[in-house]
Amino acid sequence: MKHKKRSNFSNKLGFVLAAAGSAVGLGNLWRFPYLAAKYGGGIFLLVYLILAVTFGFTIMIGEIAIGRKTGLSAIGAFEKLDKKYTFIGYLASIVPIIILPYYSVIGGWVIKYFVDFISGNSVKAAKDGHFEAFISNPTQPIICFFIFILITAIIVFLGVEKGVEKVSKILMPVLAILTVGIAIYTATLPGSIDGLLYYVKPNFNHFSIKTVVAAMGQLFYSMSLAMGIMITYGSYMKKDVKIESSVTQIEIFDTCIAFFAGMMIVPAVFVFNNGDSSAINAGPGLMFITLPKVFNSMNLGSVIGLLFFILVLFAALTSSISLMETIVSIIHDKLHIGRKKATLIIAIFTCIVALPSSLGFGIWSGITPLGMSFLDFFDFISNSILMPIVAMLTCFFIGFVIKTDAIAEEVKLNSSFKREKLFVIMTKYIAPVLLLIILVSSILNALGIVKI
Ligand code: PHE
Repeated sequence: MKHKKRSNFSNKLGFVLAAAGSAVGLGNLWRFPYLAAKYGGGIFLLVYLILAVTFGFTIMIGEIAIGRKTGLSAIGAFEKLDKKYTFIGYLASIVPIIILPYYSVIGGWVIKYFVDFISGNSVKAAKDGHFEAFISNPTQPIICFFIFILITAIIVFLGVEKGVEKVSKILMPVLAILTVGIAIYTATLPGSIDGLLYYVKPNFNHFSIKTVVAAMGQLFYSMSLAMGIMITYGSYMKKDVKIESSVTQIEIFDTCIAFFAGMMIVPAVFVFNNGDSSAINAGPGLMFITLPKVFNSMNLGSVIGLLFFILVLFAALTSSISLMETIVSIIHDKLHIGRKKATLIIAIFTCIVALPSSLGFGIWSGITPLGMSFLDFFDFISNSILMPIVAMLTCFFIGFVIKTDAIAEEVKLNSSFKREKLFVIMTKYIAPVLLLIILVSSILNALGIVKI
């Protein structure tokens, strides 16, 4: 059989920005700030940081190295390394297939707010009931997610270098500038210093084992681990790019954006509510209900709000691109369907599967699997069940089947492996235990036995 040459990222910067594009998403901009505010401020930040350089580092190195070593996406990669364990590749591949549709529904909501702000409707967007009326509308959210999926598909259609890499190289720097810029602006609001202190000062009253579990779960999601993405992106990485330093850069980028997102959101919400912190814990409502009100109360609110939603849109898009790219690459590797055809099939499939997640807030709100909305249900299955399982299996596979040396060898192709010892101990012993804790606690949490 004739094999076409595999697509590649053109260089290290292209790889790092594309991977960071996947990692930086709604998780950084919306979930991280409220988790940090809820679980003890500075102490949460510290725990998160420690986990990022140990746990996150280990899993990301493992996945990227598997991808680059085999030059294949998840299913093919596990198959090539040991046929008996191909099922891990299948399990990993299910995750982006589940996530992409509902992620696109949320991406569609972001498009709606972007349109509201750009068309001068920022006051309307801040009205009570605006968000609820929109998500329960039978057609509007569908049009919005359709547009979001279309944009994602066009970029994936263009290919790795001309689509994914090029878009990441433009969007990621803009995203970084916007995040820091808005954070600086909110720091100048009168009274914001108290909010800032609330965000960064360790609050030991809010610290418990839950802080660690929440930080771990967040880290895992935020770095786009255990869903084949980093394996796929690793398979597009040239052999002369250094894996360890790339991972360090991706982690720094991802963590800094999350930190600055907190700096722009927590103090602003704090000022708006006259120092009452409870609004920050508003969960999903924070971004679409509370923040538009906060913007509406600011002097330059309509401009800042517009910039904010552009930022969120970019972050969501680079993440959805990585999800779609991963699925396309799996189909391409496994079924030998061309990129363009595969992209079209996946886009149509995603639109269909996104329907229940969208309608679950409107005409289908009566159907609640496990007592959750469709969107929450899909989120639960992928993030709380499948991802920890895939990550545990991946650690086991690396630690005891192909052995950590196989990964170290790939990392050391062109540089030293400075944190090799840490990598080995984490993969074999510590990460699996941490992952088991995430899995058990999120199941207990979903069943309502423990509240995290
Ligand atoms: N890492 C992304 C974030 O922080 C979320 C994501 C998950 C993106 C899965 C792609 C795939 O929001």
